[in-house]
Amino acid sequence: MKGKIRIIQGDITKLQVDAIVNAANNSLLGGGGVDGAIHRAAGPELLNETRKIGGCPTGEARASKGYKLPARWVIHTVGPIWRGGGQDEERLLADCYRNSLTAAVERGAKTVAFPAISTGVYGFPLKRAAEIAMKETIGFLENEDSLNQVTFVCFGDEALRTYEEVFSGLISP
Ligand code: APR
Repeated sequence: MKGKIRIIQGDITKLQVDAIVNAANNSLLGGGGVDGAIHRAAGPELLNETRKIGGCPTGEARASKGYKLPARWVIHTVGPIWRGGGQDEERLLADCYRNSLTAAVERGAKTVAFPAISTGVYGFPLKRAAEIAMKETIGFLENEDSLNQVTFVCFGDEALRTYEEVFSGLISP
């Protein structure tokens, strides 16, 4: 099952996977960071579709087509804004991963890629976010064998090092 997880450095908008996950905001109307990159790469039809979805609560996920992206689907999820850890941020981030994987499986995706949700503008501590991402994904894969691969896409060196360190800590005997 852990063989289904891979960690890479790169731009999620370039990935040839069935579904990429977008770190969106509650409006689903686009923004900066990975949200901006995904909307730019997908083209204006993406916004036309997400506008009709009518928003997404924090921790939940909504699917759309990928349009000009290599990915067939975009799973939009809204991570928690880090406010010190006392406002359910960790549970909400875990919900993002589980709900995004569920939405991808519901659409028949076999390969899914995540950015480091909430660790940019939303300020979630990177190592803690990586631990939550890994644990939630490993737990999901233990109960759902329809997925072939889950990719964590790190956008910088620090994120890559952190994700690899967390992952090796989880799989070492
Ligand atoms: N590919 C992969 N990862 C990326 C890319 C990219 N093209 N661009 C940015 N990232 C990484 C960032 O380096 C960070 O590690 O995605 C992670 C999430 O950062 P943000 O995009 O800032 O997302 P988040 O912290 O969840 O904040 C969401 O930012 O862009 C707005 O509309 C968005 O309001 C929402 C908020």
